[in-house]
Amino acid sequence: MSDTYEKIQMNIYQSGDEGARRLPISYGEWEERARQVLAAGPFDYVYGAAGAGDTMRANIDAFQKYRIRPRICCDISNRDISVELFGARSTAPFLLAPIGVNSILHPEAEAAPAKAAAKLGIPYILSNVSTLPMEKVAEAMEGAVRWFQLYPPKDRKLTDSFLQRAEAAGYSAIVVTIDSTLLGWRERDLRNTYLPFLSGHGMGNYFSDPVFLASLDKPPEEDLRTAVEKALDEGNHICFTWKELDYIREQTKLPLLIKGITHPDDAVLALEHGVDGIIVSNHGGRQLDGAVATLDVLPSINEAVNGKVPILLDGGVRRGADVLKAIALGAAAVLVGRPYAYALAVAGEMGVREMLQNLMAETDLQLAISGRCSMKEVDPSFVVKVF
Ligand code: GLV
Repeated sequence: MSDTYEKIQMNIYQSGDEGARRLPISYGEWEERARQVLAAGPFDYVYGAAGAGDTMRANIDAFQKYRIRPRICCDISNRDISVELFGARSTAPFLLAPIGVNSILHPEAEAAPAKAAAKLGIPYILSNVSTLPMEKVAEAMEGAVRWFQLYPPKDRKLTDSFLQRAEAAGYSAIVVTIDSTLLGWRERDLRNTYLPFLSGHGMGNYFSDPVFLASLDKPPEEDLRTAVEKALDEGNHICFTWKELDYIREQTKLPLLIKGITHPDDAVLALEHGVDGIIVSNHGGRQLDGAVATLDVLPSINEAVNGKVPILLDGGVRRGADVLKAIALGAAAVLVGRPYAYALAVAGEMGVREMLQNLMAETDLQLAISGRCSMKEVDPSFVVKVF
């Protein structure tokens, strides 16, 4: 595998492109190009965060507190950056985070990142609030690994229906997000008066669901606003407690992950309630402002979980060094979010593929240059905390 990644790098050098690469390389360039191609509403929806943006910044800054300590004179000729998650191999130690409403970024919506991930052997986590229904995304991915993220609805029948549909469509894990029963205070979106759901984006799973449709007096084509408000209300499940998680646990045999954990005590409770995986996340800083960074809490959660289930992490992962630092501190893999959203806006499926391939190549090179050959060798001794 290692030579594949070396080729990616060399292909870029050799591609010419009249002396300047056509597609961006760095995260900052993808973001800038996305800003140019998108209207303020969609761009700010992805770029923005809750309140002052402190949590989002903290996520990014946390990676600076750790420095990689390389080993030298190691044979780094035979490397492997793949990882195994719930019995399936991922080509790289990252997955695509669940991001909904992709139709505000590209006409192909979620099908584009799903196909890019499928072609590279990277698991794709489909958002509950995707514009395309989960069955359509599954079709686009053929046999590739996909997970389904659930904003637990208030209506248990709707919960059952989403879970059954996900299983039938070949999703192989369920990710329950528990940090977003209310929408964070997002000042950019408020200033733009922009909430994409209100114009029907992100409703694919609701508007194709028999249980949801049966709960409406008029179909969405006749009364969009009421249908959207009903769907959003289902997601505002502010009475969600561990009891509700138990219900979901009972309804599915698929691996169940809980997303939105930043406290070790909650990680322990999640284990007691039967989860198969924990996603350390603060929703990319989009929910609670002034909150702890995910990387900062990872070591304590790792200690609390004590190897019982895999831990994943998202928030601020922008490049190969970040991926490896999170693995060193206990993550089995990480989720990337905004990087692929910007790549999708700039160049659709091709953009997401390019961005992912580059991240794979960078992760592999970082691994090699630090004197390691596999994710198993990326342990706590890989990093030093510098402040
Ligand atoms: C929805 O999950 C959002 O963060 O916008």
